[in-house]
Amino acid sequence: MWSRKTFLFLVSASWPARAYTWPSPFDALEDAYTVSSGFGSSGIVDEVTPCSQSPGSGSAPGRQNTAEWLRTAYHDMATYNSTTGLGGLDGSIGFETNRPENVGSAFNTTVSFFAPLQTAQTSFSDLLALGVILAIKNCAGPSVAFRPGRIDATEAGPPGVPQPQESLQTHIAEFARQGFNATEMIALVACGHTVGGVHEVDFPQSIQGAITPDNPDGVVHFDNIATQYINGSTVDQLVVGFNHTTNSDAAIFASDGNQTMLGFAQSNDDFLSRCGDLLGRMLNTVPASVELGDAIEPLPVKPYQLSLVFNATGGLQLTGNIRIFGTSAAAAATNPADMPVQLLWTDRHGETSPSYSTTATWGSFLEATSLFGSIQFFDINAFIDPSAGISSFVVDWAYDADGPLTKSDNGGGGFPFQDVVIFQRVNSCHGAVNENSTINAVVCICLRISSHTPELLRL
Ligand code: HEM
Repeated sequence: MWSRKTFLFLVSASWPARAYTWPSPFDALEDAYTVSSGFGSSGIVDEVTPCSQSPGSGSAPGRQNTAEWLRTAYHDMATYNSTTGLGGLDGSIGFETNRPENVGSAFNTTVSFFAPLQTAQTSFSDLLALGVILAIKNCAGPSVAFRPGRIDATEAGPPGVPQPQESLQTHIAEFARQGFNATEMIALVACGHTVGGVHEVDFPQSIQGAITPDNPDGVVHFDNIATQYINGSTVDQLVVGFNHTTNSDAAIFASDGNQTMLGFAQSNDDFLSRCGDLLGRMLNTVPASVELGDAIEPLPVKPYQLSLVFNATGGLQLTGNIRIFGTSAAAAATNPADMPVQLLWTDRHGETSPSYSTTATWGSFLEATSLFGSIQFFDINAFIDPSAGISSFVVDWAYDADGPLTKSDNGGGGFPFQDVVIFQRVNSCHGAVNENSTINAVVCICLRISSHTPELLRL
């Protein structure tokens, strides 16, 4: 297990931050990164909370979602060929779970959890990488930056995941093919073999006699990998297992005269910082044709599920939420019910007016948490004059009831919001798989009959 007391000293592996403005193709991933539980959450962090959480909402004793996701990500990446640039973290594991190198239920369970969260803009491989980052952070592990943009494979790749019965030379060659030198191999294996363990049901060649009624899979945990390895108390079954042929951790950890493991045992900070760096590289090992975006950081102010509809009386109604995120002491201490949050819009002709504003309100159903700071959602329910419309908005807000107000304008230009094609959710229906869906939208054509007389036609 990673030690909780030191991880706060870590700094994320850093990439230059490009100004990320809303909307973006990565908005759903930013939501999933930022909102951990409660209103607006993706459910990813709930699946690994507590850190020991097993699949099926805790109904599989001896298994651990965090460990299974991390192992799945490594096995997906481990077929990468740094010479050809093919393979890497591309979701091909979904086509490879029957291979002997992918023994165990972990892979199908992990694929089944993340696959339903995919969308046209959110790949399985991005979700898996994000899930690993959130899971290890939630387990007091190192911080790893999340860079989006992975593209999923459409078929299996070549095999090539290291297996415990292989020789040290084979392991060194396999890690070199993946882009990691011999020292990095030692460190990355130690980082991986910090959560979870070896299961007798999957590796009876390495463990025997561990299965009991309370331990149906016969798991023996890795535990404090470096300290216990160095002080001789390790229970890692890939070090002290009865079968010397499958003691791959023993061969790997000793391959530099134990220097890397000794360093980790002496400094947990060093261990965490090396793990943050190497796990980041592992997750960012993608096919050469894929270009990852810059690291996602939580947006301080972000719209959530905003929608504009014509209501029954022909009025134009804006509903949805505004999310406010912060890491300051004021953000942590605020009472969201007291926070002034105001949305001020510009009409479709670029004009503002004191009447173009609405107060966003808080309610307990909007409670949410973030692994990275404090987060509050507010409800929007505003009526827009159909003849004037809306083209963008800004948000004025403060943590204290008395201000001072901060104006959030999405990096300068305001939050863009179009009123030209209006999706009518109430008049639309979603067919089952392979059935028709009906989508209704209103297309608004705005004619300026004179410079002061806008007209709105509804088709
Ligand atoms: C030579 C390289 C490696 C070999 C031979 C190897 C082998 C194994 C074996 C045999 C298990 C037991 C699986 C089970 O019983 O469920 C295991 C577990 C695990 N491995 Fe590795 N591994 C290697 C490298 C890595 C790396 C680089 C990572 C990630 C950075 C990793 C992450 C994990 C995790 C998290 C588990 C625990 C899984 C669980 O508890 O469900 N492994 N590994």
